[in-house]
Parts: sequence; C-alpha cells; structure tokens
Amino acid sequence: MDRYAVFGNPIGQSKSPFIHLQFAQQCAQQLTYEAILAPLDSFADSWQRFVAAGGKGANVTAPLKEQAFQLAACLSERAKQAGAVNTLYIDEAGQLCGDNTDGCGLVADLQRLGCKLADAKVLLLGAGGASRGVIGPLLSAGVAQIVLANRTPAKAATIASCFDNRVQAVGFAQIPALRYDLVINATSSGLTGERPNIAAEHVHQCALVYDMLYGKTPTAFLQWAKQQGAQRCEDGLGMLLSQAAEAFFIWRGVRPDITPVLSLVQEQLA
Ligand code: ATR
Repeated sequence: MDRYAVFGNPIGQSKSPFIHLQFAQQCAQQLTYEAILAPLDSFADSWQRFVAAGGKGANVTAPLKEQAFQLAACLSERAKQAGAVNTLYIDEAGQLCGDNTDGCGLVADLQRLGCKLADAKVLLLGAGGASRGVIGPLLSAGVAQIVLANRTPAKAATIASCFDNRVQAVGFAQIPALRYDLVINATSSGLTGERPNIAAEHVHQCALVYDMLYGKTPTAFLQWAKQQGAQRCEDGLGMLLSQAAEAFFIWRGVRPDITPVLSLVQEQLA
C-alpha cells in the first residue's frame, strides 16, 4: 500500500492522520498515513528513511516547513512565494517536489464560508510564516487590497516588499480605518491565550473575522471580535481540512469533500 505521513515536532496533536485516512476511505484510495516526529535538526534524515521504507509523499508542519523548502529539488510557484513547503511528493522523474497548500486551503475555506474575495479589502494580522504563505493566493483570488499589520512593523514591511502595492505594511497603531470586508488573524497570539492589540473599529460590523488557529473554544481574538460587534467569526479548522484536501489531490488526483470530515473533527474537539 502507498505510504504517506505528516512530519512535525511536536506531532502528537496532529489531526492529519485522521483527516487523510477519512479522505482515503471517502475516495476509495488504498494508502497508509502516519505521524512522524522528526528531530528539529535533521528533518532530511527522517525524510530519507521514510522514502527508503517506501514513503510516497508527506505533509510537513511546524517548525519544519522551511527545512522541507530547502530539501525539495523542485518547488511550485506557491511554495516559492511562501518560502515554505507543507506538501512533499516524488514526481515521475524521481525528483523530490515541494508545494504549499496553506494559502489555497485558506481561500477554499473562505469561499466555503460564502466570503466574497473579489475586490475585497482585507486586514491581515501577523508577519510570520502563516501570513506570508496566504498573501499570493488571496491576491490571485481577486482581493483588491491587503493591509498587513504586525506588532513588529519591520517584519510586515519585509513581506510586503515581495508583493506589489496592493499589499501595505503597518504597525497595529497605524492600521488605516478602511471598513475591512475580512479580518484574518495569522499571528500565533492565540497559542498563549492572547490577541493582537488592534482597535475595535477594525472588526466592528466586519462581515467575517477569521482566525487561522482553532481549538475547543473560540480563540481570544474571535471572542473579542464578537464582543466588538463582528458579524461572523470563524476559526481555522476548515483551512486545516482544505489544505489537507489539496495535498491529497496532489498525491492521488482526486479531491475529497471536506464537509463530512470537518463534522467528525468538530465532534472530536467538542
Ligand atoms: P508562524 O509561522 O505561525 O506565523 P512566527 O513566524 O513565529 O509563526 O510568527 C508569529 C507571528 O505572531 C508574528 O507576526 C508575531 O509578531 P512579531 O513579529 O511582532 O513577533 C505574532 N505574535 C505572536 N504573539 C503575538 C501577540 N501576543 N500579539 C501580537 N502578535 C503576536
């Protein structure tokens, strides 16, 4: 049977094995999918051992996405733009290829939620890897303007310089009052129960406030946004499922329906 895996460190919390085995069942694909804890300094060795044992492809999660980017011999445009790889596979010529499905996973999830991206004004919070990987796909989906705001403005400026003038970098205190159609939290602040310190006016009456993180309860940012009058608040579980579905499509050529699997993962979290 074809063998797939997710590599990370830590990896015990990963929902990817459950998700991909559900996808395989749904699409009648014969495969195995396991979670592999890779040492922080030697992802390449772990990957080589996996391939030698018959591994066909893998997902790569934090903090190994940059190492996977270095390792891949052939990179997709979206992986180059993100500077990170979350999906590895070996092509017909035997080359190791790296792709990044995080951005298209976010776009697919926003579309699933009925969010209109064409001509939208987006406030994107955070200037780490999570943020960098989604800017290109958001622009390709028709977003008119992205204000990229970060606690440390210089990091936002470095990322914005890779794009055209549709992307503007600011600090949290300099966010222009533009009546955003969509506000996305791509900071890791929720991991410590915190939220980015932005003015309430940016989320007040916003049609959709989205946090890329997810958990049993809404993140501190989503709870706060709701209190400030945001119309709709959603977490990143759908993005997780959608980036996985895109990786599955790359490996197997069939695109699973995330809806039933999303319900199962939501039940597990409850
Ligand atoms: P990732 O790959 O998940 O994006 P990262 O590269 O470590 O992780 O980036 C974390 C992001 O979350 C950064 O934008 C960070 O802001 P700084 O660049 O100013 O450090 C942001 N972040 C983390 N905790 C935060 C908090 N409490 N408030 C606001 N921003 C926070």
